[in-house]
Amino acid sequence: MPRTERGYRCSSCGWTTVAYVGRCPGCQAWNTLEPFAEAPRGTAASRRPGAAAPAASLVRLGDVEGDTAERHATAIPEFDRVLGGGIVPGSLILVGGDPGIGKSTLMLQAAASLARGGLRVACICGEESPRQVRMRAERLGVADAPVDLIADPSLDAALAAAESAGVDVLVVDSIQSVTVEGLESRAGGPAQLAEAGARLLAFAKGTGTATLVTGHVTKGGEVAGPKLLEHLVDVVLYFESAEGGVLRLLRAVKNRFGATDELGLFEMTGAGLQSVENASAAFLAPHAPGASGCAITAVIEGSRPLAVEVQALAVPSALAAPRRIAAGIEPARLHLLLAVLARRGGIPAGALDIVASVSGGLRLRDTSADLAICLALASAIHDRPLPAGTAFLGELALSGAVRPVHQASRRLAELARLGLRGAVVPAGTPAIEGLQLTRVASLADALERVGLSGLPVRAVPHHDALQQPQRGEQADQ
Ligand code: TYD
Ligand code: MG
Repeated sequence: MPRTERGYRCSSCGWTTVAYVGRCPGCQAWNTLEPFAEAPRGTAASRRPGAAAPAASLVRLGDVEGDTAERHATAIPEFDRVLGGGIVPGSLILVGGDPGIGKSTLMLQAAASLARGGLRVACICGEESPRQVRMRAERLGVADAPVDLIADPSLDAALAAAESAGVDVLVVDSIQSVTVEGLESRAGGPAQLAEAGARLLAFAKGTGTATLVTGHVTKGGEVAGPKLLEHLVDVVLYFESAEGGVLRLLRAVKNRFGATDELGLFEMTGAGLQSVENASAAFLAPHAPGASGCAITAVIEGSRPLAVEVQALAVPSALAAPRRIAAGIEPARLHLLLAVLARRGGIPAGALDIVASVSGGLRLRDTSADLAICLALASAIHDRPLPAGTAFLGELALSGAVRPVHQASRRLAELARLGLRGAVVPAGTPAIEGLQLTRVASLADALERVGLSGLPVRAVPHHDALQQPQRGEQADQ
């Protein structure tokens, strides 16, 4: 009977040996050798499946230990919200975003808050010197928090220090700035990132340390950026700024311990990031009374309803193919809604340049804002304002039918809380206190209720609106 082969195999290049060595002579990587034991070739095919391989054990689902570990709450309300209630011990969390968006600021604030709460917290600061971190901490008013700094650029040395200090939470700022020794490629390169990610994962799982890692989104080529690590980590959060202003959106795109699509809202102030809890107020632009092209709606972002304003502008175009510019609205959706508005609402955009955007820099991701977008467009095309204090909810079918939206009552409750007086909603929407509902079955119906139907088609300078070929339209984002 042929003997089973045993030995060690390099997990990165596949080199094998019978005796363990720390560094693989094949690819020079450290600590990549793993033990293996396998039957010689030729025997596997003739073997009954599962007969000779050591059997894995079965565990009944109900017997598996549940999530008994307490989460570490950061006491930063919007950060905890996005994390699903706090940081789970042993989890690996990636915080990505453009340079300068506020990743280091948030990490330092969270680290200080956790350390003040009695946890042992260390930061590997690869981006900045301890002196710079100290200056930032002073600005943030957290310089007295018992946070340990590790300034060694070698990841292995830093992790060894963190492990021997027995930290509960480790912050790595940033993954692009630490190096894994023994790899040929430069710091921040794909091979370095993948290896550093794997080491951090092994560290987090092996020691039970909650590990927060920041990563820059590389402009254009995202391969070498945090995208490379998304499959590996437990939680992926992305930081975005809304319209380049002071608002910062922290979005969970993956969360093994909570809901994805959760949105955290911050404001960048002179003293760091402040949680914005009344989110709707931040997104509702101060209203210019009597402005045309503005329609309020409510969307569901993660677990909360948010009121936003859709804004549209229509101006005579100087181009043969008028422009359609959308910010926060899918260009394809804008085109579709313009087609519905022309055909079902009798309001063609024709030779007008159309600009549509969403207040606060939010991206609309569901179709519940269709009616609001269409009415904002209609209002802009006719240059007549919509009724003040009224919001619009509803998805539009190509037939012009207004379809119901999910979680309508939560959206309406938020609109009522903000002091709106009425809402135009799909037929069948249940009544809600404090809001006068106007139920409509179709777009034409809605246009009539707001006084935008039966108006003469707005004179357009170049072409007859309905005969204008729409093929050459350009969608800009
Ligand atoms: P930072 O956290 O360094 O960004 P990242 O780590 O994502 O690259 O944030 C830097 C920006 O934030 C910088 O432009 C200055 C600004 N900022 C404030 O406005 N207030 C503050 O209290 C701090 C610390 C930074
Ligand atoms: Mg930084």
